[in-house]
Amino acid sequence: MDEETRLIHAGHVDSLPASTVSPPIQRGSTVLLPNARALYDGTLGYGRGGLAAQFALMDALAELEGASGVQLFSSGLAAVTASLMAVLEAGDHILVVDSVYKPVRRFCDQVLRRFDVAVSYYDPALDADGLLALATPKTRLILLESPGSLSFEMQDVPAIATAARARGVLTLIDNTWAAGLLFKPLAHGVDISVQALTKYVCGHSDVFMGSAAASDPGLNAKLAAGVLDHGWAVSPDDAYQALRGLRTLSTRLARHGESGLTVARWLADQPQVLRVIHPALPDDPGHALWRRDFTGTCGLFSFLLQPGPDERVEAFLDALTLFGLGFSWGGFESLAINCDPQIRSRTIATRYDGPMIRLHVGLESPADLIVDLKAALAVYAA
Ligand SMILES: Cc1ncc(COP(=O)(O)O)c(C=O)c1O
Repeated sequence: MDEETRLIHAGHVDSLPASTVSPPIQRGSTVLLPNARALYDGTLGYGRGGLAAQFALMDALAELEGASGVQLFSSGLAAVTASLMAVLEAGDHILVVDSVYKPVRRFCDQVLRRFDVAVSYYDPALDADGLLALATPKTRLILLESPGSLSFEMQDVPAIATAARARGVLTLIDNTWAAGLLFKPLAHGVDISVQALTKYVCGHSDVFMGSAAASDPGLNAKLAAGVLDHGWAVSPDDAYQALRGLRTLSTRLARHGESGLTVARWLADQPQVLRVIHPALPDDPGHALWRRDFTGTCGLFSFLLQPGPDERVEAFLDALTLFGLGFSWGGFESLAINCDPQIRSRTIATRYDGPMIRLHVGLESPADLIVDLKAALAVYAA
């Protein structure tokens, strides 16, 4: 054969030379089938649905979620929107918590409404009876987030899931705050547990990915069909990074939670701080639910500054040196944002007595973070 042909066919790997701790990153759109019959007999025939790294990640996440199946998506937002598309039909109505992650609200308003799905936003303070009283015969699904990722309202998720199931209404929760570890939605009766793996699971602020998990095989089949029908796919390199992050999730999360509480308790004693909003603090309105249902906390919480003008809030943020100014969380680094522009976009008007700052407490020393916050609070007070 000519060299050009030999170079195309040389170096083919039929089987792996050895077993390693982590799965191989199998990069492949094309899958080579062993014989002509296998082309059409249901053998895995194409790489879009995942290969070694994606399957390993799906298995590990199913273990984490206590699920019978898990689907992967290219981002956390895609995991929420794709799950909705997988189970909703034209003419349906859904109830969405008003504290929902803002881009999900945009999807509901811009996309679902175009497909004749009606959307109502509900107050996160409603209990299960109050919430189900808003359901109509057309209500197909309730979308929860508990705690909310800016103002950390806790919901009685088990009670809502039970009441919804009794009415034949599906529940879907964005469980990113708990990272699949601190709260187990499926064990508490929720139908679909979604998380942005981008945050704590990946843990290094450099990968986008999302997952949707369900216990019911029929629901899993719907989620899987959605992936297949839309042609969604995640790369093996990203799946590998997510699986790598998952291995150290519990250790990192414990440290984030502990450091976050250290910083939160310190903030609560500062004169420039009106209130700390953290469900793991005993005086938080959501504390009893958090204590009952959660096994720990992550490093994301908010606090209210004493009332002051926007310029001083910006001066506070600009004075921070260890906290980056950024919208994400779950990585090893500390971050801060002001929340009020996002809170103003809610449907149900919520008044807070001072400007709201959200912190993500990273893996730095909490003592250093406190020094940084102290200096910035002095700027706020000046
Ligand atoms: C609560 C919550 N859910 C979902 C997402 C979306 O994740 P991704 O950035 O992977 O789309 C975010 C991102 O900030 C979030 O805060």
